[in-house]
Amino acid sequence: MTIERTFSIIKPDAVAKNVIGQIYNRFETAGLKIVASKMLHLSQEQAEGFYAEHKERPFYAPLVEFMTSGPIMVQVLEGENAIARNREIMGATNPEEALAGTIRADLAGSMRENCAHGSDSIASASREIAYFFSDDEICPRTR
Ligand code: TYD
Ligand code: MG
Repeated sequence: MTIERTFSIIKPDAVAKNVIGQIYNRFETAGLKIVASKMLHLSQEQAEGFYAEHKERPFYAPLVEFMTSGPIMVQVLEGENAIARNREIMGATNPEEALAGTIRADLAGSMRENCAHGSDSIASASREIAYFFSDDEICPRTR
């Protein structure tokens, strides 16, 4: 059993739709524990730095614009195979390709406005967690 931590964002479209609780419920139902959480409104610089890996892609500028368009929730999720588990319950990047029952299939409007982000590897999880949270903002669960 591998207990991992992953980084998650509830994006501006989902916050605007008022489905934060519904998405948190899906994390909890999937056995993922929220060990850190906060709401914030990304600056241009924060969004650009977070998505730096996509800098050369044509969707980068509109993605940054969307991600700075309203408040988001950022959280650290902990659980068995948390990285893959979170990606599984989010569904494919394009909501039209996402399996029924996933967050993106059920709630997302488009490829750009697709409700949620989840780290895709151990390395990106650790970079992304550190990008938004200091160690003392993460609360390990003792029970
Ligand atoms: P990516 O890391 O490929 O997807 P995921 O969020 O599933 O890890 O892309 C990051 C975000 O960029 C994605 O959630 C939505 C946006 N995006 C587009 O707007 N158009 C695209 O063609 C792609 C691939 C991504
Ligand atoms: Mg990605």
